[in-house]
Amino acid sequence: MTIRILTGITTTGTPHLGNYAGAIRPAIVASRDPNADSFYFLADYHALIKCDDPARIQRSRLEIAATWLACGLDTDKATFYRQSDIPEIPELCWLLTCVTAKGLLNRAHAYKAAVDKNLEAGEDPDAGVTMGLYSYPVLMAADILMFNAHKVPVGRDQIQHVEMARDIGQRFNHLFGNGKELFVLPEAVIEEEVATLPGLDGRKMSKSYDNTIPLFGSSKQLKDAIARIVTDSRAPGEPKDPDNSHLYTLYQAFASAEQLAEFRADLLAGLAWGEAKQRLYQLLENELGEARERYNALIARPADLEDILLAGAAKARRIATPFLCELREAVGLRSFREQVQVAGVEKKKAAKSARFVSFRDDDGSFRFRLLDAAGEQLLLSRAFADGRSAGLVSKRLQSGEALDVREQGEGFSVWLDGEVVADSPAFADAAARDAAIARLREALTSGE
Ligand code: TRP
Repeated sequence: MTIRILTGITTTGTPHLGNYAGAIRPAIVASRDPNADSFYFLADYHALIKCDDPARIQRSRLEIAATWLACGLDTDKATFYRQSDIPEIPELCWLLTCVTAKGLLNRAHAYKAAVDKNLEAGEDPDAGVTMGLYSYPVLMAADILMFNAHKVPVGRDQIQHVEMARDIGQRFNHLFGNGKELFVLPEAVIEEEVATLPGLDGRKMSKSYDNTIPLFGSSKQLKDAIARIVTDSRAPGEPKDPDNSHLYTLYQAFASAEQLAEFRADLLAGLAWGEAKQRLYQLLENELGEARERYNALIARPADLEDILLAGAAKARRIATPFLCELREAVGLRSFREQVQVAGVEKKKAAKSARFVSFRDDDGSFRFRLLDAAGEQLLLSRAFADGRSAGLVSKRLQSGEALDVREQGEGFSVWLDGEVVADSPAFADAAARDAAIARLREALTSGE
């Protein structure tokens, strides 16, 4: 079975070496697994919750997109898109919002932390809390459930959000699934062995500590950042303690086993810190130099990046659009045309539960299916250029006018005005086909 893996990257900053080692590199490796179907996206709607600086949002989206591509994400295999290019996500977010208990969101860590901080400062508990922050977990649930992801790789701080997505999905399934699991219930995956990289000062590398090493800065910026790594005061020639050196930890995250063993031995033998920094620089330059060139080329051609992301969005929407149709149907947001038809059929006893379901195909054309009482497909229409033509044909099929059904192999087609308008699936044998034709006639003819 293929496992669907999905994760989002909030677009508020510029990726640094810690993001690369902790998230980007492992995600790209995981996406190459033939059993994985990966969905990676820029969570730019989420970014709006944290940042109201349009220039920064725009810059960050561009940089993060270029970073993932430069690091080798294969967009033929993985689906890579911007959240804001998928209108089905905010629409699903609303459907989910309507079944999410307010109490669930009251318990979200990020919201609770904001409230606690306000209370401590003697402020109104909700001071500065937007509905975006409050509803953050519902939007994230929509991201995940939209694509029925099985596994969601995230940092520890996001586990609760994935659990909430599970709860919300489960509730929706229960209310609207009619016994069917509309949503897969996702699981958070925490990569235990992925080291969080230390920053220049030895604390976790993070923008908020201002201790990061830029991922795709110039060689000079890389060198300057490495020069600022804090080390102890042991002089050249004095043995160093690798296990208490975050410079060594940084080296370890990028070195092969042999490189690491050599570096370790040299430190123990008294390698000077300046020399050690030069070695780390060389290691990083080897790992990142080519990717940096690709990155700079991508950043210089934003229109190409736009095309790549739009193609990714189109690929994602081939899943999201029909799935959202199904979900709208499930909650009762259905076409009136279809309801009129069903009402018309309802008069005829035998056909009570045959249903026409119209939908939009991947290529934008309009089609309908006719399902029998048991939900088995009897007919799939051909593609129509617009919804009106599809609607007219389905209406004529149930108008009681004589049906022109022609057998075709193990299936059959339905003709109108000398043209095929719909086909059945292939049946196991002629008897099954004939039984289906009988059900079709029962469903569509007036039966008087
Ligand atoms: N909230 C996540 C973070 O800050 C980003 C994110 C948004 C996400 N939507 C998601 C992660 C869906 C996984 C799945 O890291």
